[in-house]
Amino acid sequence: MARLLRWTGYVVIALLLALLFTALWVWFASESKLKAHVAERTEHLAAPSAAQLADAPRQLRLLGCSDCHGDGVRGALMFDEPNIARVYAPNLTLIAAKASDQQLARAIRHGIGVDGRSLIIMPSATFSRLTDGEIAALIAAVRALPRGGKPQPPREIGLFGRLGLASGRFHTQPNALAEYARKMPVDLGPQLEAGRHIVASRCAECHGPDLGGAEVAPGINAPDLSIVGAYDLPAFARLMRQGIPVGGRKLGMMGEVARIEFSHYTDAEIGQIHAYLQARAQRVTG
Ligand code: HEC
Ligand code: HEC
Repeated sequence: MARLLRWTGYVVIALLLALLFTALWVWFASESKLKAHVAERTEHLAAPSAAQLADAPRQLRLLGCSDCHGDGVRGALMFDEPNIARVYAPNLTLIAAKASDQQLARAIRHGIGVDGRSLIIMPSATFSRLTDGEIAALIAAVRALPRGGKPQPPREIGLFGRLGLASGRFHTQPNALAEYARKMPVDLGPQLEAGRHIVASRCAECHGPDLGGAEVAPGINAPDLSIVGAYDLPAFARLMRQGIPVGGRKLGMMGEVARIEFSHYTDAEIGQIHAYLQARAQRVTG
């Protein structure tokens, strides 16, 4: 009996140790991903053209900055799932008051926060495709906004969030950069480059690095954009402006993002996006 008890004791101790080591591993593996380990890099910021500067406030809307970062980019609660994470989009007017252009550029297109953390949710991998001039214009536009509001609280990552990071199920933005660099949407020549640039630096956030489709959130899938093969230009303009697809179904996330953001594209831009995606659809489907 005493021997049985002793063995039971060993087993319990072994189990507790295994649990402790697993917990430590999850903690360190997730913690190392949440700190950016990218060597200090110098951002090359070309002086924006006058046209880029004038257009930058509209770009803040088109790229979703004011959607996620809230009214006047003064910050908003972005993501709140018990035990996974609570993440705020920071108040950019207060961040920009203290940060250098270098730091802001690194956050926007390399996913490294001003304090050196690896950003999550912020679509930096997609924005890494913006040009030096576009990034500089965005920074100027943020700096031009009136400063105000309160700082947002720091993010909190829960147990399942850490497990997801440690196991590679969730990505930080610096982790995603290499994939976005490798999987550019297919190059269809200089005539279609304007449309390709817009979709690569905007639509890829949800439709995947090469527009081949992606799971945006559990149960929400953004399809391969070869679906645009079924859209003529008027139908596509209606989708972009009113969020209504071919056939008139009610769309979820896409309907919302179209009405709030994409309705601000000009007719010319909608034409460029459509031309590129139509040509890509022919290439992809055959
Ligand atoms: C899909 C939502 C979303 C969009 C779109 C978005 N952001 Fe963010 N952004 C976030 C979140 C969330 C964070 C904080 C992430 C974290 O703490 O891990 C963040 C962080 C940042 C930071 C770093 C701030 C810091 O604390 O260091 C900057 C700068 C920034 N965003 C600028 C922009 C700009 C400029 C745009 C538009 C070009 C933009 N964001 C678009 C959600 C978004
Ligand atoms: C914030 C995420 C998000 C962004 C950004 C986004 N989409 Fe979507 N899109 C979706 C989702 C999700 C769907 C699937 C339908 C739904 O759930 O709303 C979708 C569906 C579509 C469809 C299919 C509509 C149909 O016929 O069923 C097209 C076409 C489309 N998107 C084009 C675009 C283009 C072009 C861009 C860039 C200008 C873009 N999307 C950017 C999330 C997004």
